[in-house]
Amino acid sequence: MELELRINGVVESVDVAPQQSLLSLLRQKGYRGVKQGCEMGNCGACMVAVDGVARPACVLLAAQAGGCTITTIEGIGTPQHLHPLQEAFRNAGAIQCGFCTPGMLVSAYTLLSHNANPTEEEVREALSSNLCRCTGYVKPVQAVLQAAAKMRGEQVTGEMPRIFNAGQYSGTTGTLRSVTPATGTTGTMPSVQVRRGARPVVGVSLSNIEAVKLATGQPTFTDDVQPQGMLYAALLTSPHAHAVIRSINISDAQALPGVHAVLTYKDVPRVPYASGTLPTPQDRYCLDYIVRHVGDRVAAVAAETPELAQQAIEQIRVDYDMLPALIEPRQALDANAPRIHSESDSLGIMDAQRNLAGRVRLDEGNIERGFAESD
Ligand code: FES
Ligand code: FES
Repeated sequence: MELELRINGVVESVDVAPQQSLLSLLRQKGYRGVKQGCEMGNCGACMVAVDGVARPACVLLAAQAGGCTITTIEGIGTPQHLHPLQEAFRNAGAIQCGFCTPGMLVSAYTLLSHNANPTEEEVREALSSNLCRCTGYVKPVQAVLQAAAKMRGEQVTGEMPRIFNAGQYSGTTGTLRSVTPATGTTGTMPSVQVRRGARPVVGVSLSNIEAVKLATGQPTFTDDVQPQGMLYAALLTSPHAHAVIRSINISDAQALPGVHAVLTYKDVPRVPYASGTLPTPQDRYCLDYIVRHVGDRVAAVAAETPELAQQAIEQIRVDYDMLPALIEPRQALDANAPRIHSESDSLGIMDAQRNLAGRVRLDEGNIERGFAESD
């Protein structure tokens, strides 16, 4: 499907799959500042402005954004020309791991685009769709208030704006339980006398060394790195707790253009390995003809896009011979219980007949002496 979008001021013609999300399209086009978090519209890491409104790109189809104006973090400022919001986030220490930062900045940017003088309550409401596990929100709220003041042309010092205690804010209802301002300036640490020596960094607040990269959406995280020709993997997993694969047909998946490999147990060497931290039992295989739990691996696909890999997975046809499921440990020990590992090539299983993988005994100290010495 052909679409035209205006992304960060540039009109782009794109070819999208009907089920492709706007998040996937933007990251595919190189806008790696649009982060991939929950992909369920909950975390705000993928926030972009669509026609001036902050929207999570993961729950919008690319097709729905046809003809729209999209602003991503890359369109707000650059490392050479930071937007006042990006500058304030860096200066306030509002960027820690920075994964939430682009989404948070987009939410703040859309707020300031239509409200030049927001209250703290309005800032908190605007950031309420952005989950941040690191900052506790105090610094980001201060940073947005400071950037707003700077954009209004007010004199801004290095001191952060005074805000109410976060505990006084009742959350998504957007109301403050108390209007008593916090005493002092929130976020100011008690002053400590530090004798400055040859190292001027002691006693001085330092910005996150990656702050500019993180605030401008430059590739920083592993998922942002896209080597040339990279393929994407997807797994087909078992819907059954215990079954033997009677037949598996991968020809339709293999025939899809852009699919480079479809692997089943027939394609990989049958080498047993231990999945725990101990060397035995070696009772797992990369791909196996038996599935032993819901979610066990059945097939793997490598394709040029995540959507194509998923599409190929949906084309694989598997015929299972169902086996009785074991879901109770005591039932598994019964002499007549079905065997989870009936194959002969697994190694080091303590008692496969009784489904006992192994026994671990740990002795520490001397119990008799412990009792003798106790009062
Ligand atoms: S990735 Fe879109 S809201 Fe979490
Ligand atoms: S800075 Fe780490 S999640 Fe917000």
